[in-house]
Amino acid sequence: MKISSYTYLIVSFILFCNVFNTYANDLKELYARKADSLVQLMTLAEKIGQLNLLYASKESVDSAFFTMVKEGKVGGVFFAYGLDHVMKIQKYAVQETRLHIPMIFGLDVVNGHRTVFPIGIAQASTWDMELLEKVERTAATEATAEGINWVFAPMVDITRDPRWGRVCESPGEDTWLACRIAEAKIKGFQGTDLALDNTVMACPKHFFAYGAPLAGKDYNTVDMSDRSLFEWYMPPYKAAVDAGAGSVMSSFNDLNGTPAIGNKKLLTGLLRDEWKFDGLIVSDYEAIFELVTYGMAPDLEQSAKIALEAGNDFDMVSRTFLNYLGGLVEKGQVSEETINAAVKRILIAKYRLGLFDDPYKYCNKKREKDDIMRPEFLALAREVVAKSCVLLKNENQTLPIKKDIGSIAVIGPLADARRELFGSNLIGGDPQKGVSILDGIKSKISDGTTINYEKGCNIDDSDISEISKAVAIAKQSDIVVLVLGENENMSGESDSRSNISIPGVQNELARQVIKTGKPCVVIVNGARPLLLTELDSIASSILMAWQGGTQAGNGIADVLFGDYNPSGKLTITFPRNMGQIPIYYNHTSIGRPSRDPKISGKFEDWRSVHIDCPSAPLYPFGYGLSYTTFEYSDVKLTKLVYEANDEIKVSIEVTNVGDRDGEEIVQLYVRDLLAEITRPVKELKGANKIMLKKGETKKVEFTLNTLDLSYYHSDMSYTWDSGDFEIYIGPNSEVTKTGKFTIK
Ligand code: NOJ
Repeated sequence: MKISSYTYLIVSFILFCNVFNTYANDLKELYARKADSLVQLMTLAEKIGQLNLLYASKESVDSAFFTMVKEGKVGGVFFAYGLDHVMKIQKYAVQETRLHIPMIFGLDVVNGHRTVFPIGIAQASTWDMELLEKVERTAATEATAEGINWVFAPMVDITRDPRWGRVCESPGEDTWLACRIAEAKIKGFQGTDLALDNTVMACPKHFFAYGAPLAGKDYNTVDMSDRSLFEWYMPPYKAAVDAGAGSVMSSFNDLNGTPAIGNKKLLTGLLRDEWKFDGLIVSDYEAIFELVTYGMAPDLEQSAKIALEAGNDFDMVSRTFLNYLGGLVEKGQVSEETINAAVKRILIAKYRLGLFDDPYKYCNKKREKDDIMRPEFLALAREVVAKSCVLLKNENQTLPIKKDIGSIAVIGPLADARRELFGSNLIGGDPQKGVSILDGIKSKISDGTTINYEKGCNIDDSDISEISKAVAIAKQSDIVVLVLGENENMSGESDSRSNISIPGVQNELARQVIKTGKPCVVIVNGARPLLLTELDSIASSILMAWQGGTQAGNGIADVLFGDYNPSGKLTITFPRNMGQIPIYYNHTSIGRPSRDPKISGKFEDWRSVHIDCPSAPLYPFGYGLSYTTFEYSDVKLTKLVYEANDEIKVSIEVTNVGDRDGEEIVQLYVRDLLAEITRPVKELKGANKIMLKKGETKKVEFTLNTLDLSYYHSDMSYTWDSGDFEIYIGPNSEVTKTGKFTIK
């Protein structure tokens, strides 16, 4: 038989994978053996020193810090970047300590390093995994050029509460999508080989369920059923671990009565034993210390014992391990074996990063100069800004604006802002190098176009004295671009809001400007869903533009003037008012209203759920408009009845019936119609981003199997039900075409 070149290819690929796996396993074993031998040589004090992770920014370190490094009391640092600083610390660790063990260097690289990308929730709105992988590849390249080899990212916490300040970093409310994002980001950070000088060890966070604090208050208690935890909140961490994440960060929050930091069932039982995670676990900032505040440990000594025995290896900043583990071993309360295991995991990470071969591996002066804010990084950042913008409303095709329009009034407290657009997590970025929206607009327009600019009001006070000037320029102009939103301090860690309205008198500014009758495009810069109900009823167009970072103004201008046709879709529901929160698309089915459309009345009507507000959100999950129009055919299924082992193939045709090319994110949702427990009314199970030229039609296919239809049953077994399922395919979670199939 003649072997085709295709067969050759497949056979070679399989051989390559086998060889590669064997090689990777061999390396793992080699590092484990090396770490074992090294641990044998270490004193107890040296071992405990390895578990100590300290904050070490250039400004914060002093001689006491360097003395600790010399004494072998520090295993790693974070917030130290820039080669002079990194090399100085590394030199102390390598040259002055008895065993010359190199230091690991961590940093929060959550939306880029020097080139700042849009915040996490904005990145998620691209639904573009290749793009997100590139974002993290770029972030890793820049971070490693400044000495970093470990990043505290990606943040993969699901959240359903827009009050929570850390919505800004989150992938949003959907589990399936968050898993895909986690995988793409881990791949981007870690690349194919952690030992390369431009890859970093990733650290998905915050394990576990940090994104569900009661009332959206940061650090607050998380109290929910195991099913909800495992079905909605857990999978993104698992996906990150399965994608090979080298480390995981345990979280601050209390989960059903046990703070995550002291939760052995989760850190050891689930993460290590069940998921076979063999990387290192780092605590969050001073979290070990907080076991005393929680009232779970009587003193810091016991905090150290609980946290170590729960499964934490690295103690971030609290120095509790450093100060108390020695005494605990002496008293026989903690076994040295437990410490050895934690040290080993940290040493293995250092071996994997190649730090024992060359501790200065990430200290290349040429790279520090060349690999920062390269033109291609800025171009990528601009592309991500444009692709993350979500067009929420576009009446009378107000957008895109013609570049040769006579005059534009650019108004609003965020129109000429830079710092605010960098978001709450500003570390390596420089807002001076950012592009404001006003600058972005100026760079697009023709010579004949006049720009009139007025701030109109501040972001968050009650001063209305400047509004009249804004109204005056609106009257003189052909169109108004009104830029409203939040500042950088209204989101992020410890910055939750009890009211997610647009702050200050910005809504009043909008009312008065829009009253002029001029077409008005509102650009919203914010870090979470905001209450846009009133704006939605009065503005011509609304563009959710988040906080876009270094290239915010350019990317937004690309959308405003039609150089990029918007394709972003929301990954978190926008409520109509505060009372609707929490509101999310994949809620479980309830007893009322009836599924029978013929039945109606007070007790059966959706409107009876809140008497003063429709049940539907303002903008649903998955929603986002384009400058063109897409038409969806009916759903096609290969069969109506499937066997349990069958692949369920579903397809739909999408046609671009508008007059410009555009991208569409085609979404597939499933509902289990008859289940052992109540199931969500819809669950995202697939998404496909396609480019369609005007007039073009494409067939989009999805393949499902019974694993995709599985859920935790009442006994927590993860399996599917035979019976009927409904599928929905469409441009968002509400507008869909429907199909139905049965599994025998
Ligand atoms: C606390 C935050 O919760 C975590 O995300 C971050 O990585 C650490 N601080 C270090 O900055």
